[in-house]
Amino acid sequence: MCLASKNKYLSPKYLYDKVGSQLFEQICIQPEYYLTRTEASILSKYAPVISKLLGNNIHIIELGSGSSSKTAILLSHFSSQKKRIYYFPIDISSTILTESAQRLKSQFPKASIVGIASDYNMGIDRAAAECKVAEKEEKKKNNDDDISYTKLVLFLGSSIGNFELIEARSLLRSVRQRLNASDFLLLGFDLQKDESVLKAAYNDKAGMTAKFNLNLLARINRELGGNFDLEKFEHYAFYNLEQHRMEMHLISKIDQQLYIGALGKTFSLKKGESIHTENSYKYSLNQIAALAEDCGFGIEKNFTDKKRWFNLALLSPS
Ligand code: AVI
Repeated sequence: MCLASKNKYLSPKYLYDKVGSQLFEQICIQPEYYLTRTEASILSKYAPVISKLLGNNIHIIELGSGSSSKTAILLSHFSSQKKRIYYFPIDISSTILTESAQRLKSQFPKASIVGIASDYNMGIDRAAAECKVAEKEEKKKNNDDDISYTKLVLFLGSSIGNFELIEARSLLRSVRQRLNASDFLLLGFDLQKDESVLKAAYNDKAGMTAKFNLNLLARINRELGGNFDLEKFEHYAFYNLEQHRMEMHLISKIDQQLYIGALGKTFSLKKGESIHTENSYKYSLNQIAALAEDCGFGIEKNFTDKKRWFNLALLSPS
């Protein structure tokens, strides 16, 4: 959190408390927010291709699994192919993990599902350890030392776009360290496109994105004893052409003083001054290839929709 300096910003990770996560689910079904729908349609279309590239025994690790609704598309296809599935969803919210694990258990009774409530870095470590335990047990149970598992790490929904490049590289490198040569990483990227499409997606008519953004201030009020008046702020989202990113800001409508009890501090905001709350980077296929190469991966396949709005990159260790 940085509200004292000239360039004020709040980390986007704070957008996702219980209310924020519910608002994000609402954003995903807004007509202007094409990302979720497009990615789901790509997954449905290419699940058979992805399935063929994997073995019969799969360890799926998902970073930021949320409701796991898109993953269910893959699980459904894999289970129809009689694959042995272990699924390790990683999410910061244990409530969401429990709810979605219960739902998936009834949908896919044969899959083993172990939720990991954690941030990404610790979560990958724990998931990798769980994979080893599961593999050992499976070998023992079947009295077969040759059973091999393919790890498939999922990072969907263009969540990588909310990372600065340096952070994205660091996360992908740490995933790479935990993969074997025959494992895969499936990454969802929102692609660069006409500015009007992007602006509409982050300024939906129903005002869900605005509510999602403003909830950050409501959260400071709830959890840190802040005195933000949400009426005195405006949601602002625009496309930064040079940086290829959507930016979300909260703009102060008046000169105001803000107090945060937990910090015992007062901050001043001028009329028109912004608090920068999120970047959402939009990639080109070349940038995706460069990022993959920088992190020790090669592109196995790119799965893109007809409009070339979204890309699922299947990466394998190079
Ligand atoms: C989660 N993430 C990929 C979303 C995005 O599009 O950057 C978060 C979001 N922000 C505004 N609308 C949706």
